Amino acid sequence: MRSLLIPAAMLLAASLPATPSLPSTPLPPAAALPPAAPLPQATHAAAGDAQDPLQPTGHWSEMSFGDAPLPPMGWNSWNAFHTRIDEAKLMGSARAIVATGLRDLGYRYINIDDGWWQKRRQPDGRMVVRTSIFPSAHAEPPEETSFRPLVDRLHSMQLRAGIYTDIGRNACAQGYPQADSLLPTGSVAEREVGSFDHVDQDLSLYFAEWGFDYIKVDGCGLNAYGEDKPAVKSGLFRAFPVYVVPDAINQTRVADIRDLYERVRDALMRIRPDGHFVFSICNWGTANVRAWGRDVGNLWRTSDDIEPRWSSMISNFDSVATRELYSGPGHWNDPDMLFVGHGDFDARHLTEARTHFALWAIEDAPLIIGYDLSRAPRSLLDIWGAAEIVAINQDKAGNQGVVAFTSDDAQIIVKQLSVRGDKAVVIVNRGSAPLHATLDAEHLKFSPTEPIQVRDLWTQRDLPAFTKQTSFSLGAHESVMLRVRGVPELRDGMYLSEMPARIYVAADGIHALEADPQIHRPVPLGTGTHGTGPRPALAGWGGPRADSTPYNQELRIRGTAYASGIGALANSRLQIKADAEFKRFSAQVGLDDSSLERSTKVRFEVYGDGRLLSQSPELKFDDPAFALNTDVAGIKVIEIVAREMGLGRAPTVVTWAAAALSP
Ligand code: GAL
Repeated sequence: MRSLLIPAAMLLAASLPATPSLPSTPLPPAAALPPAAPLPQATHAAAGDAQDPLQPTGHWSEMSFGDAPLPPMGWNSWNAFHTRIDEAKLMGSARAIVATGLRDLGYRYINIDDGWWQKRRQPDGRMVVRTSIFPSAHAEPPEETSFRPLVDRLHSMQLRAGIYTDIGRNACAQGYPQADSLLPTGSVAEREVGSFDHVDQDLSLYFAEWGFDYIKVDGCGLNAYGEDKPAVKSGLFRAFPVYVVPDAINQTRVADIRDLYERVRDALMRIRPDGHFVFSICNWGTANVRAWGRDVGNLWRTSDDIEPRWSSMISNFDSVATRELYSGPGHWNDPDMLFVGHGDFDARHLTEARTHFALWAIEDAPLIIGYDLSRAPRSLLDIWGAAEIVAINQDKAGNQGVVAFTSDDAQIIVKQLSVRGDKAVVIVNRGSAPLHATLDAEHLKFSPTEPIQVRDLWTQRDLPAFTKQTSFSLGAHESVMLRVRGVPELRDGMYLSEMPARIYVAADGIHALEADPQIHRPVPLGTGTHGTGPRPALAGWGGPRADSTPYNQELRIRGTAYASGIGALANSRLQIKADAEFKRFSAQVGLDDSSLERSTKVRFEVYGDGRLLSQSPELKFDDPAFALNTDVAGIKVIEIVAREMGLGRAPTVVTWAAAALSP
């Protein structure tokens, strides 16, 4: 992916003269302004937007598709049974999800993972179910199998049904077989059960004929079948070019991978024009999907497979924890399915199991159970069934939790709920030593002089109200999950960082894709400490953040630190769904003190429904923060643009400090 390094457009833009500087607010109408200089192509720009990624569109550019207004909840066979899935096991968990009341709490999807397929029938390519394990799919003639009876049964239980495929020709269990894997059978062509070159045919079968509601599309076909693979050399599988190099973003075919997943999205939209589907992208956070997943799927994996180990869970949590601006109703970061019930999260490790569940809940992760529910002990059912915690995950505003305090040992994550003044909090001790944690009113963006009400969501008990601060003693791996109510620090109005679901990253300003070093790296299970150890692998370093710079520094302009604001790179454009609910937009803007690039100037521009409303002068490093204060009455979509004059050698970090909307 050499072209990702310095796109030609960027070099061209660097040699162009900068746009003349303009006065600050108030402004003449947009039409009277000189045209902006062409801009470098941002690495990620919204689908369907104009060529210039900084050009405001005046409309909310996020595509709306599928049926996932809230994080999907349900059950999946993989973490419970791997390929040893069968109909009896699946129905055992489906019946239990109803009988235990979990369905009524929202766990509706019953998803079949890898292992269901017998083969792709030749020559017509129709997929055949392995009826030895799914007997209700049996039909005459025998290769006319159908999942319809099973799906109908699930629907009659007021459940929904999910199916699984691969974006390539072959699937994961074939590429990484285990001793007990049930694998597709037959000729090379018959064993090509992935949907590559069969997207329309397969999705029509799964959705129109069989009636599924949800599909997970894995990615092993794009990385496990290179020419050098022994199983390919031996003729077992056809070679497929290696599109995904999991630990090398520079060698990964980002655009091709995105294009393949977009074909699935488009086929689903054609086959289910009423939007009744959920599309789950599973390429393990590779190919910069953490930036474009929102445009293509309803959920997208942000990391490698979760394992039932503490450090794996923490790693997967980290892969979503800094991506709060990429998630929202219809589109969710997916740190993988729950492993509650197994290994470090089994019934003997309820502290870890609760922390795992609480972290998933506050991050708006899909809550997909991976356990044989027909034999689940009460202690585990109480975790999945913690109604007040599930309600936080399912809060309709869809704001992912934002990190309010961060360190390697402890974190405080705060999620704004749909009721103003109501928030959820998780304080987590990631370490193995006891922790004395203090929760400050400032973490909550609440007034420190007014009482703050607190409810412990695990015990479902109110704790004494506090002002200013309260504290908790947490053992190893322990967390506390609270619901709090207080008087917002902004008496009227909200910080943008309190409404991440209403922000859409239309252009991220990233020059060249780089691996994100913030994600915890566990010792690999397969290879242990052979070799030199895992390195940062997932792109996304430099994406905009709430209450942090893109590189995880505190927001700071000319020596003044700001607890609230949006940190971004220059040449970014963020959209804010204002829906005509606010009258004023305000922010203190400037180049961040942490910016490596100190030679260029940046103009901060605020657009309302496509019209320029106000802008800063061209600001340089170490200029004092400039106050933007703009009338946004009646505006539906605000767009905030940080426009760099010329192009620096290093990324320029900018801060929209204390950015807020008020009614
Ligand atoms: C992996 C995927 C898992 C599971 C498995 C099946 O690629 O991440 O969630 O689906 O394949 O083989």
